[in-house]
Amino acid sequence: MTTAFSVDQLSRPEVIRNPYPYYDLLRDQSPAFGYRDYPPGTMPGVDEPKPSWVVLNFDDVAAVAWDHDSFSSRDSLQEESSAPSLMLVNHDRPEHTRLRKIAAKVFQPSSIKSLTPAVDALVAACMDDFFVTDRPVDVMADYCAMLPSRVMAFLFGMPAEMDRDVRNWATAFMLSADISPQERQAYNAEAMAFFERHVKEQMDRIAKGEDTPGPLLNAFIRTEVDGDSLCFEEIVRFCMTATVAGAETTSFYLGNLIAVFADFDEIWQGFVDDPAQFDAIYKETLRFHGPPQRLFRVATRDITIGSAEIRRGDWVACFFGAANYDPEAFPEPYEFRLNRKNASRHMSFGYGIHRCLGAPLAQLEAESTARMLRERYKQVERAGEAVWQDISLLNHGLQSNPVIFRARD
Ligand code: HEM
Repeated sequence: MTTAFSVDQLSRPEVIRNPYPYYDLLRDQSPAFGYRDYPPGTMPGVDEPKPSWVVLNFDDVAAVAWDHDSFSSRDSLQEESSAPSLMLVNHDRPEHTRLRKIAAKVFQPSSIKSLTPAVDALVAACMDDFFVTDRPVDVMADYCAMLPSRVMAFLFGMPAEMDRDVRNWATAFMLSADISPQERQAYNAEAMAFFERHVKEQMDRIAKGEDTPGPLLNAFIRTEVDGDSLCFEEIVRFCMTATVAGAETTSFYLGNLIAVFADFDEIWQGFVDDPAQFDAIYKETLRFHGPPQRLFRVATRDITIGSAEIRRGDWVACFFGAANYDPEAFPEPYEFRLNRKNASRHMSFGYGIHRCLGAPLAQLEAESTARMLRERYKQVERAGEAVWQDISLLNHGLQSNPVIFRARD
């Protein structure tokens, strides 16, 4: 690694595989200008990203994410792209406030908690399908790829065998599949066409008083706040949003969590001895191996951050992953520590009005996975090199993650 590293090199494969030392090389220059990369839902090979500011330090990332008036989440490249635009993620106020009020009721903690038995059943079935004991298993190939997609398919009342479609739609939109623009467009079109058909059918059945599967879709259709509810088009886009926002990040997160168990035996043993440690493990894994690395904002006015003169219309890449490794916020960031007093301040669910709506669902899937691993296996051992994906800096996650689950005696 050379100290002449600059922001225009942030999309290199070796950086995507392990970005943290490179962020350290750039911290003193942050915010620095000249990084070009693709927001989710755009088309590499078709769309052309604009050069953007890179914001790395915790306080600056928090300031940008918090100041939604000065930094818009609307993304002109995404809006002009052929990919569907997302609900909430790409909305500013006042539309965001209206939509978030309804969506927050859909995702209220008691509703998510009531999904525990269903998620547990999906976790158990997925482990039965994909795990064997005492032989190497690449958990990224099957379990981590499929569990979040199966959960989504269940939540939308889709046929169970469409779990693979959900997976394909999510990886195409989130850019973690290395596919052609034509394939990406085809997956986006297929997803939107399916949800349009499916939502219409479900709405018709509900109008006739019939019971319908899919608790999340039902809630999108039925939930009202102050007499306001989502229209057909909004429900379809919410299905698309939850699919791409919920399946892909959670797949990477589950892989990163299993890597922590495999690579830090003391963490696994501590969890086996005291399952109450899960909360601390969950949060520190979100900081240490948080999937989302950066998301873009667009400045709505001229504004100064540190020595950077950001102009109205400039793109700003908010590096949540770099904030998680800022030594000013998290001392000794390369150490996995369960006793950080500010563990909840990790940025992996974002910050401010766009903070992740699906966090309780991601936590449910992670908690259920960890609990069942502990019940079923004595040990999670590393069985070969963990290989980090190097296709997109959007998410830090594993391409392959071979482990051996040791049977209980
Ligand atoms: C470990 C898993 C997950 C991670 C790390 C994660 C991360 C994030 C981040 C960083 C944001 C902020 C985006 C921004 O500031 O522009 C976000 C927003 C969002 N997430 Fe998640 N997410 C996860 C799982 C989920 C799940 C399971 C769902 C839903 C089923 C979901 C739905 C959403 C939605 C709808 C938003 C937009 C919220 C808004 O703009 O008001 N996420 N997520």
